[in-house]
Amino acid sequence: MATILLIGPGAIGSLMAWSLQNHANIKVYAHRAGLSLPGHVESDGETHRLRWSLTDSLVGIDAVLVCCKATQVERATSPLIPKLSGIPWLILCNGLGPQAWLSQQLPGRVLWASTTEGAGRFGQQVRHTGVGETRIGSPEQYIVTDETEQWGRKLASQPGPLELHWEPDITAVLWRKLAINAVINPITAVQQCLNGALAKREWIGEIEVLCAEIQQIARASDIQLPSDLAERVVMVARATGRNRSSMLTDIEAGRETEVDPILGPLLCAADRHGLAAPRLQYWYQAVIRLHPLNR
Ligand code: PAF
Repeated sequence: MATILLIGPGAIGSLMAWSLQNHANIKVYAHRAGLSLPGHVESDGETHRLRWSLTDSLVGIDAVLVCCKATQVERATSPLIPKLSGIPWLILCNGLGPQAWLSQQLPGRVLWASTTEGAGRFGQQVRHTGVGETRIGSPEQYIVTDETEQWGRKLASQPGPLELHWEPDITAVLWRKLAINAVINPITAVQQCLNGALAKREWIGEIEVLCAEIQQIARASDIQLPSDLAERVVMVARATGRNRSSMLTDIEAGRETEVDPILGPLLCAADRHGLAAPRLQYWYQAVIRLHPLNR
């Protein structure tokens, strides 16, 4: 059995470990002091034991799976990059910035993934709160080696509790998720509301304006987003209506949010292409003001 080094044993990292543990040994890299591993995943009324262990040894590692917060990717992976540069890596986190950064550090080695699974961590237990799917692919702007791609294709075809797929256009999938997160996350964090609040009529105007700004930035970046983006945002807000978004959860826990990896790439692209994005700017600043150091 291959050994996968997992970085970031949070809710999504736990779901991935649960899905892969019948095909691989899962070792969790102790990237910070005091890291504890959830013992179980609860899904559909059943409890599943997680078979994984903490390690600080890099001996015998066949691949790396990065599932930590987008804001932690650089800090958590930097010490490992020179030591594990000859094996496949897979990054599954929000935003777009950390994926590009990691691909630049490890040319030919990094696959990207995106998930619509829902999960939350409650103490030592992870709850699978929404069934979705996880797409894995090779980003066209950072070509990977054949060996890396084969590993990713094999991983995506493993039977397991999560639905995994090989994705021919992973960049487009990440952009679609980014677009939806860039609207739902900042509004819910600043307004301190559940996702469902955004499905109310009073928010439709703001959602449409934000989506128009995002569409313009995507077009200038040669990315095709669905033309009904605003409707999709409302659909996701409704479907996840009783959830607190990840950005709201971070604010409530007094943590730094993922506003930089989520809104940062959009604002940088707007700047590069000379486009105005006043509403994205407004929400970016509003979230930054809530960060622990600025309160
Ligand atoms: O980041 C999140 O919380 C989720 O991606 C989303 C779609 C906003 C739903 O909560």
